[in-house]
Amino acid sequence: MIPNNSGREQWGSRAGFILAAAGSAVGLGNIWRFPYLAGENGGAAFIFVYILCVLLIGIPVLIAEVLIGRSAHKNPVGSFKSLHPSPFWHSVGGIGVIAGFVILSFYTVVAGWTLGYIYEAINGNLLQYSLPDIAQSHFSDLLADAYWNVGLLTAFMLLTMGIVYFGVQKGIERGSKIMMPMLFILLLVLMIRGLTLDGASKGLEYLFNPDWSKITTGVVLAAMGQAFFSMSLGMGAMLTYGSYMSMKDNLPAASIWIATLDALIAIIAGISIFTVVFATGQNPDVGPSLIFRTLPVVFTKIPGGFYFSILFFIALTLAALTSTVSLLEVVTAYFVDEKGWSRRKAVVVFGFAALLLGVPSALSFNILADFKFGEFTFFDLSEFLSSNLLLPLGGFFISIFVGWVWGFDKVKNEIRQGAESLFDKYPWMLNYWKFILRFVAPVLIIVILLSSIGII
Ligand code: PHE
Repeated sequence: MIPNNSGREQWGSRAGFILAAAGSAVGLGNIWRFPYLAGENGGAAFIFVYILCVLLIGIPVLIAEVLIGRSAHKNPVGSFKSLHPSPFWHSVGGIGVIAGFVILSFYTVVAGWTLGYIYEAINGNLLQYSLPDIAQSHFSDLLADAYWNVGLLTAFMLLTMGIVYFGVQKGIERGSKIMMPMLFILLLVLMIRGLTLDGASKGLEYLFNPDWSKITTGVVLAAMGQAFFSMSLGMGAMLTYGSYMSMKDNLPAASIWIATLDALIAIIAGISIFTVVFATGQNPDVGPSLIFRTLPVVFTKIPGGFYFSILFFIALTLAALTSTVSLLEVVTAYFVDEKGWSRRKAVVVFGFAALLLGVPSALSFNILADFKFGEFTFFDLSEFLSSNLLLPLGGFFISIFVGWVWGFDKVKNEIRQGAESLFDKYPWMLNYWKFILRFVAPVLIIVILLSSIGII
């Protein structure tokens, strides 16, 4: 990043923003969460609604969120403060900070599993699982071990804190320049191997041939929540990255790139997983443990599977790390900019607080498995409330703010900068975006939220 006139750092190039934003977006959400939710929510029907949500809500709100950051050059709360006097709008940034904190707590539990699986891969353990039953029971054994879960959660949180504490994000950004393409290639290989298994077509059918009767309000809510979660949307991460973006960058184009890449990676991961699930006669709806039970089976079927499995879990762990860093960064930036805390104090206090909140999530798979809120374990509850409730709520307010409150003349002026030729060529795009932000996105979000709690 290079300092601009106002002294705030900026990305060195347009690719800088895209890389960091894609680093935040691409992570366990695509490779772990998308397949397991698709498996729990009926496959193709879920994917169809998810794609609709990305197009109708996700991309327009992403553009709006990045725009707020680029115009105000601040953290989420500070940005709203500099754009609007009312404390109501400042608290919208606050919802984001809370959402980010809760997501960090349970996300790091799963990130810990991927870290643990690097060790399993190096030990050659994963290659003993040519049969799905063995892979499953091995993962169940690990899950049942509270020390394994809490230990890895702690290790991963410390890793995240270390990076944010020493401000070496640039280091991992550089690392992710290599790792992201690598992850992509490894996923392509997995997908091809999956597609060439006997019985793979059943998996494809499950993914792409919708059974419309499967669409319920629960499925729609899960799909919308996943669109937000996967794009790191509605909680200020994208806003924060946008605040480092230059006025010369084409913001809509960059946002569309990120959204497309993000959805594409999820679909590739979905194909890799479900071809194996069906080819080996497994159940698609086993929940959060899905990829840890299925992937080891494919590794045994790939030449050089030993090295492949190590590389895969290293790449996945780094993808998770670029996401946890963006989560902790939002909370940190808020306390540094708005409350005058030192960066180090904010990292230590909130890193450890998120770790504490993560412990009951890590124990939800063993000691606290029967401790439930309705059907939900503590892990499920954290995941549900943050991704299905707080993120969409954040997205709702972002669209209302940009569509109605900020003043569309100003918005128009801001969004055009760097994208003049795009809007000169396709003037309807601006009106289309405005219409979505004013009506389509907020109405859809509210209707989905209310109907899922049974109000309408
Ligand atoms: N988008 C990230 C992923 O898919 C998760 C995330 C959500 C990161 C919200 C930041 C904010 O893994």
